[in-house]
Amino acid sequence: MNIVILAAGMGKRMHSSLPKVLHTLAGKAMLEHVITTARTLNPEKLVVVCGHGGETVRQKIAAPDLVYVTQQPQLGTGHAVMQAVPELDETVPTLVLYGDVPLIGAASLARLAEAAGKDKLGILTVEMEDPTGYGRIIREKGKIRRIVEQKDGNAEELAVREINTGIMVVPTVPLKRWLAALTNDNAQGEYYLTDIVAKAVEENIDIVSVQPGKLWETLGVNSKSQLAALERIYQRNVAAALLESGVGLADPARIDVRGTLRCGRDVFIDVNCVFEGDVVLADGVSVGANCVIRNSTVSEGAEIRPFCHMDGATVGAGSLIGPYARLRPGADLGEEVHIGNFVEVKNSHIAAQSKANHLAYVGDSTVGSRVNIGAGAITCNYDGANKHRTVIEDDAFIGTNCELVAPVKVGSGATIGAGTTLTKDVPAGSLTVSRTRQTTINDWKRPVKSKK
Ligand code: UD1
Ligand code: CA
Repeated sequence: MNIVILAAGMGKRMHSSLPKVLHTLAGKAMLEHVITTARTLNPEKLVVVCGHGGETVRQKIAAPDLVYVTQQPQLGTGHAVMQAVPELDETVPTLVLYGDVPLIGAASLARLAEAAGKDKLGILTVEMEDPTGYGRIIREKGKIRRIVEQKDGNAEELAVREINTGIMVVPTVPLKRWLAALTNDNAQGEYYLTDIVAKAVEENIDIVSVQPGKLWETLGVNSKSQLAALERIYQRNVAAALLESGVGLADPARIDVRGTLRCGRDVFIDVNCVFEGDVVLADGVSVGANCVIRNSTVSEGAEIRPFCHMDGATVGAGSLIGPYARLRPGADLGEEVHIGNFVEVKNSHIAAQSKANHLAYVGDSTVGSRVNIGAGAITCNYDGANKHRTVIEDDAFIGTNCELVAPVKVGSGATIGAGTTLTKDVPAGSLTVSRTRQTTINDWKRPVKSKK
């Protein structure tokens, strides 16, 4: 089929300079959600109708399979679909979607397409407690005759609770004919896509209706508050799916997944965690409260304690991270590594059983196994112009408050005394201390303030 996504509306009520369909839900633009769902139907043509902020939309969401057309000015939904007509393949039906209805489900669309087949008009409708604002489905003897918009309806029509979600499948050849014949003779002076329904009736084309699996699939976003409401629905669904698959959640209302979160068995996630991009938590991993984890992989049995921030990190099996640790891109930790509070690791490989338990910075480093990095130790990886590497071999001991001025290498088993500023490589098994020796003056009298 052809799929046309309407996205030209301006979204005045968002009160934003960003085009409405670029506002994000679960970290992804609303339009991208719709495109992702549309692709699952393997469309012949995927056309997006842009208008307000169209250039920005085209730039932000570009893909080889997307065709953008412009609707300028915006004269209604029928006029919007008209702009896509030259791009449509006449041999297959056309599905119309909205760029601001981000949660529409692939299964509901597939059922609609199936019901419409090659030559029927299919409309996705729902029954609403309060249908105010929507186009009403007007039936006679059970058969759909036309759609009446809120602003054009009489009392009897407006009492109807079955509404047009806006999503429909239309055979493409008659669609072109019907669109060309639309008028804007209505309360809003717009070319209504919904007027094609009456035209189909005139031509005795069968009209079918299908209901979505869930009502929220068809909810549109016109304001930040509606966007926030859909975000909660989305997150509630993600949490339910995680629980269903056996992941333990301290509170399903307090987890946000903005991307994909894959979990093994016996994973537990405490409250207020945010997962972004692709995150993998292997069997037995636990994540403490208030962690933000992005594009990271955590291996079996590792424990992420509260308040950690991880981005582009790999954590080895059985490791202990946090509380308050920061793992930046390229932090690659082996098995049973301990990274404690206020420790930052970036672009560094730290091998098995090494520890940096407090207040340290490990950047652009290669750290061996069983290394101990003391509190306050810093790799000085940046000379103001270039980054350099620090190499710390197996079993080395880096004392408290050391500065390792890269490029520098600490041989295996070497000990660096507390407070050392290391500028030269040190051999295996050695002790290096660079601080001044301690001196004590006994019976020292402090100066006293002179009297004037
Ligand atoms: C439309 C339907 C109404 C339906 C409702 C569901 C028509 C005439 N009415 O009404 O029956 O119940 O959706 O939400 O179709 N758009 C454009 N160009 C335009 C106008 C709209 O691209 O010129 C896009 C909007 O960006 C939006 C979608 O079409 O994504 C719907 O537009 P909107 O103004 O929200 O339609 P409604 O008047 O709510
Ligand atoms: Ca609307």
